[in-house]
Amino acid sequence: MRFALVIFLALGLSAHEPVRARKAMVVTQDPIATDVGVGILKRGGNAYDAAVAVAFALAVTYPTAGNIGGGGFALVRSANGEANFIDFREKAPGQATRDMYLDAQGKPTRDSVVGWRASGVPGTVRGLELLHKKYGKLPWAELVKPSVKLAKNGFVLSYATARSIRGSERTTGPFPESKRIYLKGGSYYEAGETLRLPELARTLDRIAKRGPSEFYQGETAKRLAAEMAKHGGLVTEADLRNYQAVERKPLLGHYHGHEIIAAPPPSSGGIGMLQMMGMLEHLNPFPAGMGSAKLAHTLAEVMRRYYADRSQFLGDPDFVKVPVAGLLNPKYIAQRADSITDRATPSASLQHGAVPPEESPETTHLSIVDAQGNAVSLTYTLNGSYGSGVTVPGLGFLLNNEMDDFSAKPGVANMFGALGGEANAIAPGKRMLSSMTPTIVTKDGKLLLVIGAPGGTRIITGVMQAILNVIDYKLNVQDAIDAPRLHHQWMPDRLYLERGWSPDTVELLKKMGHNVETGTMGVSNVHGILVEEKWLQGAPDGRSNGKAAGY
Ligand code: DON
Repeated sequence: MRFALVIFLALGLSAHEPVRARKAMVVTQDPIATDVGVGILKRGGNAYDAAVAVAFALAVTYPTAGNIGGGGFALVRSANGEANFIDFREKAPGQATRDMYLDAQGKPTRDSVVGWRASGVPGTVRGLELLHKKYGKLPWAELVKPSVKLAKNGFVLSYATARSIRGSERTTGPFPESKRIYLKGGSYYEAGETLRLPELARTLDRIAKRGPSEFYQGETAKRLAAEMAKHGGLVTEADLRNYQAVERKPLLGHYHGHEIIAAPPPSSGGIGMLQMMGMLEHLNPFPAGMGSAKLAHTLAEVMRRYYADRSQFLGDPDFVKVPVAGLLNPKYIAQRADSITDRATPSASLQHGAVPPEESPETTHLSIVDAQGNAVSLTYTLNGSYGSGVTVPGLGFLLNNEMDDFSAKPGVANMFGALGGEANAIAPGKRMLSSMTPTIVTKDGKLLLVIGAPGGTRIITGVMQAILNVIDYKLNVQDAIDAPRLHHQWMPDRLYLERGWSPDTVELLKKMGHNVETGTMGVSNVHGILVEEKWLQGAPDGRSNGKAAGY
């Protein structure tokens, strides 16, 4: 018995230990960016300062998604318990039209995905400005400086980043400036080589010295708009000048004795997570155990039901009335859950629910907690890897292809297979619906989890499963994140299981009527921080090359 106990203690309780630190923690998808964040914290910056510096650093060292040409969301919670949501999602340009991505026959084109016409008006720099203005401590220029240095002096490419750049050829290849910057004379960089980005360094340096408005009204704005006009893109100087990041009230829900602080529309994530968690609380499949067919089936069915609602009801709240209270009404959620049987519901037979009337109005991620207990959960993106593939000549940054997150036409899927309708139709100045789901969980009013992910529509289901693994199965944050995940999004009617599910479970799910697909692609890349009594646990997703570090 004693021998067994000694072995048990020596081996630990976990499959994979998280990084632990006493005071502060930074988790990002790129080791260089994580180190920038820790450096800012050690120099007296707070979590918000670190988030700004990390986001700029990722725009250099993580070109697949780190950006100044895209947009995103930041969910913050101050040490005093106040939460806020900063929406810096891109907007459709003023010249955008509802059918702009349909050809003469009404068929969707590739223009929402590749090239100059695919970009919404970038929001990242305004979003970081708002985060800094409201909450930051260190001077703006100091937060941008590390990224200027990285771009100017260059940084050593990891195997993962070199491979990612090589894999981007289909997207960036057609655009000479992207090719010139990310290739050296026609051949790809190898891991271990140094990549320098001098044009980006100059753009970032101007943003550091002249402030965020440089991007929206300065030389950068002028050159960006001129290049857009030259290449048939829609973003104009007026679009850039008028762009504003906005604060929104985070959604607040409860799950198994925890408070969930979640992303409101135009993110579809918070409503999704709270709806799915509500159905799970009602059905309680957890005694069946992690990895069981019963749990997997129930997860798939609650996902299916939420995604049917998503495609109908969700869009930019500044343009459409999103029935938030109805979608989160406990009676409605219970009634949706009660339609789940022990067989898979064919998606074709399932529609969105009849949401009760309102009584009252109601693709990279970083998580940071500082020594005071302030927390930032920030997800931002170019949408697809390397966005539209376009690098603005002379400015050195990639542009997003976020227009593809709109519904080009009802019933036509976007690049993530998501369907949308009227609520997410294109309109000038409108924000496209997002799955980005930065989330914070508290218990009895105390910070517990700061978490989020990239991964398109798989973000919402991925982040939720990691949270369930912490709350319902008491896993450390690394194990909770690394455990195999699944995804269902109603349409296409397919239950996707990552590598790692038992073949027996897969067989049982097939027998229940699920159209199972297995694969090596991850269900999002979750990065989280768990706050314990004396320690912080940091965990980048084991599926990524991310890094957690703290002090
Ligand atoms: O906002 C969204 O839902 C998408 N543009 C997110 C894209 C994404 O996560 C890509 N990452 N793998």
